[in-house]
Amino acid sequence: MGFISLLMLSLLMMAFPLMVNSPSLVFNVGEAAGWSAQSGVNYTWWQFGPIFLVRDGIRFVYNPNTTNVVEVTSPDYESCNPTSPLATYSTGNDTILLPEIGHRYFISGNPVECNMIDGYGLKVDIKVQNSSMWREVRACPNCIIRRSYINLNAVPAQAVTIL
Ligand SMILES: *[C@@H]1O[C@H](CO)[C@@H](O)[C@H](O)[C@H]1NC(C)=O
Ligand SMILES: *[C@@H]1O[C@H](CO)[C@@H](O)[C@H](O)[C@H]1NC(C)=O
Ligand SMILES: *[C@@H]1O[C@H](CO)[C@@H](O)[C@H](O)[C@H]1NC(C)=O
Ligand SMILES: *[C@@H]1O[C@H](CO)[C@@H](O)[C@H](O)[C@H]1NC(C)=O
Repeated sequence: MGFISLLMLSLLMMAFPLMVNSPSLVFNVGEAAGWSAQSGVNYTWWQFGPIFLVRDGIRFVYNPNTTNVVEVTSPDYESCNPTSPLATYSTGNDTILLPEIGHRYFISGNPVECNMIDGYGLKVDIKVQNSSMWREVRACPNCIIRRSYINLNAVPAQAVTIL
């Protein structure tokens, strides 16, 4: 390939960053702070940051001596009731796959932590969306990833989230 065509190719790649159809990502709940009642993380705020798609995962990292993760129904999420768990996790590093569209509810097995006032309760409501409705754009390998909603009515992409 000549220099000019190589140059053209690089220019083209800058203009049209690699578009892939939503490969899976694993999101750390609470980012670096993990899952902890002492982290100061507002988990209700955190859950609205990422766009969770079918086939993604979420990872809970925590001290298993002090807390755990309990998956519950929506009413038990609201009332911080861990006594009828759908699943219980306690290794301290649990990755949970999200194979279906819909909500998944996770709380601390300790109602005191789950109920903490002012929005800092140890609980998350993960809304998993249809991957066919989103496209992922990578500006470069391992760099910024954006997920854009595909408007089927051909209006320009909207609701871009940067991870
Ligand atoms: C936590 O985040 C939620 C959702 O954004 C918000 O409604 C609530 O006020 C926040 N709590 C605090 C203490 O900032
Ligand atoms: C949990 O407790 C065990 C036994 O006391 C200890 O060996 C371990 O280091 C503790 N783990 C953490 C993350 O504090
Ligand atoms: C948690 O487990 C994943 C693999 O499942 C690993 O890559 C990661 O480093 C672990 N994190 C911690 C904090 O142990
Ligand atoms: C996901 O979106 C695609 C494209 O609009 C649609 O064909 C498919 O039925 C949707 N899946 C579900 C489970 O809603």
